[in-house]
Amino acid sequence: MRLLSALIAITARGALSAISGEEQVPLTDTTNPDHVDTPLNVAIIGAGAAGSSSAYHLAQFAREAGLPINITIFDRNPYIGGRATTVNVHDDPAQPVELGASIFVQANQILLNATRDFNLSTTEDDDDDDSPIPGAALAIWDGQSLLYQQTTGKTSWWENAKLIWKYGLLNPLRTLNLKRSTIAAFLRLYTSPVFPFDSLTDAAEQIGLLPAATNEGKEEASSEVDDDDDDDAESGFTSRQPQRQRQHQHQENFDTVILAAPYQSLNLTLTPSSLLTHTPSPIPYVSLHVTLFTTPHLLSPTFFNLSPDQPAPKTILTTLPADEAPGQGSSSAGSVGFFSISLIRSLRNPGTGEREYLYKIFSPERVSRGFLARILGVGQRGQSGGEKVEGVGEGEGAGVDIETENDDDDNDDMNPEQIITWLHRKLWHSYPYETPRDGFEPIRLDHGGRGGNKEGGGEGGRGIWYTGGMESFISTMETNALMGRNVARLVVDEWVTGMRER
Ligand SMILES: *[C@@H]1O[C@H](CO)[C@@H](O)[C@H](O)[C@H]1NC(C)=O
Ligand SMILES: *[C@@H]1O[C@H](CO)[C@@H](O)[C@H](O)[C@H]1NC(C)=O
Ligand SMILES: *[C@@H]1O[C@H](CO)[C@@H](O)[C@H](O)[C@H]1NC(C)=O
Ligand SMILES: *[C@@H]1O[C@H](CO)[C@@H](O)[C@H](O)[C@H]1NC(C)=O
Repeated sequence: MRLLSALIAITARGALSAISGEEQVPLTDTTNPDHVDTPLNVAIIGAGAAGSSSAYHLAQFAREAGLPINITIFDRNPYIGGRATTVNVHDDPAQPVELGASIFVQANQILLNATRDFNLSTTEDDDDDDSPIPGAALAIWDGQSLLYQQTTGKTSWWENAKLIWKYGLLNPLRTLNLKRSTIAAFLRLYTSPVFPFDSLTDAAEQIGLLPAATNEGKEEASSEVDDDDDDDAESGFTSRQPQRQRQHQHQENFDTVILAAPYQSLNLTLTPSSLLTHTPSPIPYVSLHVTLFTTPHLLSPTFFNLSPDQPAPKTILTTLPADEAPGQGSSSAGSVGFFSISLIRSLRNPGTGEREYLYKIFSPERVSRGFLARILGVGQRGQSGGEKVEGVGEGEGAGVDIETENDDDDNDDMNPEQIITWLHRKLWHSYPYETPRDGFEPIRLDHGGRGGNKEGGGEGGRGIWYTGGMESFISTMETNALMGRNVARLVVDEWVTGMRER
């Protein structure tokens, strides 16, 4: 319930990101017969892939149409990116590591173009083939033995697909690409006549992906993670339609509001409630714990039932033992207890200058420090020490996820300064559970549309828009960026049409 007050408080901390200014385009285009000098005031709630893409493309499309626009983005976190974000190992800005989404593929046009347009570099992936660190590049573990070890090279999407098929790897490790035919179909969403689409359901049907949508299409699933908590509302807007905040601190008026976060996380109070023709249903999210840590130790071969002279694999994916039935929710990794452990890279501890290893664990439940000690084979060493773990809780927005390190029941037997030198935990609401559905949430939530609103003088483009339907279709950075672009196109197209009709 921190509607506007939260926003104002956040603004004070500098965490409210407003991208106006540079993006405002005064109307100078004399080819447009309508004289427009009042910018369209747009609020975008959510600065993840959908929201930031909406902003970027709105600015671009408005510029192309010669129309002035004023865009304000709201987010509860002090950064742009939502589920795509990094943290700094040892708080060292020279050592960022992905906390959330980290992978995209060649077919991801918007992301790919953005890397070009923003002059960004990419790396192939986190694996380093020339790594001097011994051990198999990839292995599959069922809690008892390693079923498969791949010594060299990277897996192609096809090899990944075969591994997943053969071993039934546990979510969220399905980093496989979509089938090529699916990609081809999907790409039709990017261009006319399908783009822009005012109904995702119709668009999915048009490209022939509606029935398949809930069965496949979790591309980048493991990397696709989400805003942390639900309880920090970031909704605080009014529009020119009659809407009032109960808080009195501040009020801003917007013509157009783009809701670019799961509706339930916005905790909106709309006055009057009849503003929306449709209230989106909650999107049930998979909880995914990410644990990043550094240690001078490599994974213990004996933990994985290898002989002590055999190096442990660098990336370990898991599957359930043959006799174990799949569990739900927090027990979805069964007796194995985690989805994956990966050695991200080696680095030097900026404090001690010592060589350390950076690991990332995905798990359905929080992993204990005792577990970390066991996988490193150092569980019995050291004495109980102070909790001097750096970084925990830092750099986060309001998170439900930052837990104190004192609640482990089994950490008394280790000295964390020797074993774990830096630790960062994050609980993501990573991506939606796959539930069969025959349609997706609408893109337009209000009465608007061409011809205009009751109140507002009838300029198209005004109103309340929602990008969240995409989450239930395919939840990736790229698909959400596409949805943002789509909404931007719809808004500008309606705006232009509305002006002509005036
Ligand atoms: C959501 O908003 C309502 C009323 O505005 C408030 O009572 C409630 O505490 C809010 N919930 C959260 C999780 O912020
Ligand atoms: C742009 O929007 C912000 C937020 O509503 C507002 O404070 C500012 O005055 C607007 N600028 C213009 C030029 O309309
Ligand atoms: C990406 O860039 C290429 C080359 O400029 C362009 O043809 C294509 O339309 C762009 N795709 C998107 C989705 O913007
Ligand atoms: C783009 O990247 C190259 C290589 O890193 C760099 O030399 C160049 O200055 C960058 N250009 C811009 C516009 O940032």
